[in-house]
Amino acid sequence: MSIVIKNGTVLSSTGASAADVLIEGERVAALAMPGGLAEQWSAHAERVIDATGKYVLPGGIDAHTHMEMPFGGTNASDTFETGTTAAAWGGTTTIIDFAKQEKGSSLLSTLDSWQQKADGNCAIDYAFHMIVSDVNETTLKEMRTCVDSGVNSFKMFMAYPGALYSTDGEILLAMQQATETGSMIMMHAENGIAIDELAKQAVNSGRTEPVQHGFTRPPELEGEATHRAISLAQVTKAPLYIVHLSAAQALAEVASARNDGQNVFAETCPQYLYLSVEDLAKPGFEGAKYVASPPLRDKSHQPDLWRGLRTNDLSVVSTDHCPFCYVEQKELGRADFRLIPNGMPGVEHRMDLLHQGVVAGEISLARWVELTSTTPARMFGLYPRKGVIAPGADADIVVYDPQARQTLSAATHHMNVDYSAYEGFALTGQAETVLSRGRVLVDAGEFHGAPGHGRFLERELCQYLN
Ligand code: URP
Ligand code: ZN
Ligand code: ZN
Ligand code: ZN
Repeated sequence: MSIVIKNGTVLSSTGASAADVLIEGERVAALAMPGGLAEQWSAHAERVIDATGKYVLPGGIDAHTHMEMPFGGTNASDTFETGTTAAAWGGTTTIIDFAKQEKGSSLLSTLDSWQQKADGNCAIDYAFHMIVSDVNETTLKEMRTCVDSGVNSFKMFMAYPGALYSTDGEILLAMQQATETGSMIMMHAENGIAIDELAKQAVNSGRTEPVQHGFTRPPELEGEATHRAISLAQVTKAPLYIVHLSAAQALAEVASARNDGQNVFAETCPQYLYLSVEDLAKPGFEGAKYVASPPLRDKSHQPDLWRGLRTNDLSVVSTDHCPFCYVEQKELGRADFRLIPNGMPGVEHRMDLLHQGVVAGEISLARWVELTSTTPARMFGLYPRKGVIAPGADADIVVYDPQARQTLSAATHHMNVDYSAYEGFALTGQAETVLSRGRVLVDAGEFHGAPGHGRFLERELCQYLN
């Protein structure tokens, strides 16, 4: 099976150029100057896609998702099937999901059970990070086995005492283990001990509504935890990746560590770029739709985040996709914001939302591709198989119409969740055709994918380490 994509503007992390692309089987076979070889290729191709006026870019890589993850007494509402299908609609062709270790269970049995959940159910390729919630001798040994199986990044939590939380000592031990294997510690950096006290005080004084979730998790406590995580990483020489960074204080810590040459990286998410504490403060129980941790911040943090995306102090944009339905799931915390399951939907619209940054002049086209595809591929050991359109790479390709107009809504999205955090947002640009390993998944508003198509990706180590 060969496919030709001709007359498009091919994007990469270094720029844009007019080029035609030949796909043979699952891989990119060649790129050629416009009008060069495309006619010859087309004579033998099963399909020729005319991409006139369109961008042709490497498929998106969402390095932070939680499909069907158990959390707060319920499960994230997207399964691997529905979540990866929604991702494909929006031009994301790889996810890296989190396998979540429960206290008392082993990392390897956790990984096994996440493999079983995903196997045969994903519309796009997938990989895993491990969530480490129980640091002990067995866990530390098992980290090495995970690395050998292509799972070489380990998320730890300074938040959620009594659940996912690790002490500084436990973090230090895991970091030492990560240093030995060159693997990455990913950190949820919020001071959970202090936050829990603030949250208790709020509830005890009758402040139980969703906006209190934001008020009791102040940005200073994200900055403090980020500083502490960076210090622990400095002492242990572990590579560190701060997940879902939301606050200017945390960004300043990351920037300072990076200026010092430390192997510290960070991602932010579209919700922190476009939504704010005003959404959390919506009347009635509406704010529950926006409860995620760290919380949505005051809008004044957003220019800093955009600057971080330009300076590379923020290297990746992921979604932290962790959807819970408003009716029935978010409802669990109607009387007490602490019981609202934490997380928001977003896997479908990450590429489009960040494209608005290009439209607004916040980031360049090349940076859009870098943040959403090339850097996640390099950061998490998938490059050059993923993250670039080049001979030999997987043919994960998006033909993107930069002029298309779309309005986001729960009525039209494909995620298995009963609300959109971006309801009514009018966006410019949309994926028109999406290919995963040479298979057309989405084309002109129709889905042609299948749950068994996606394959597990064993990852190499991060390519950015000093
Ligand atoms: O609120 C969030 N972010 N839920 C998902 C779990 C996590 O901390 O990433
Ligand atoms: Zn987290
Ligand atoms: Zn500091
Ligand atoms: Zn997350």
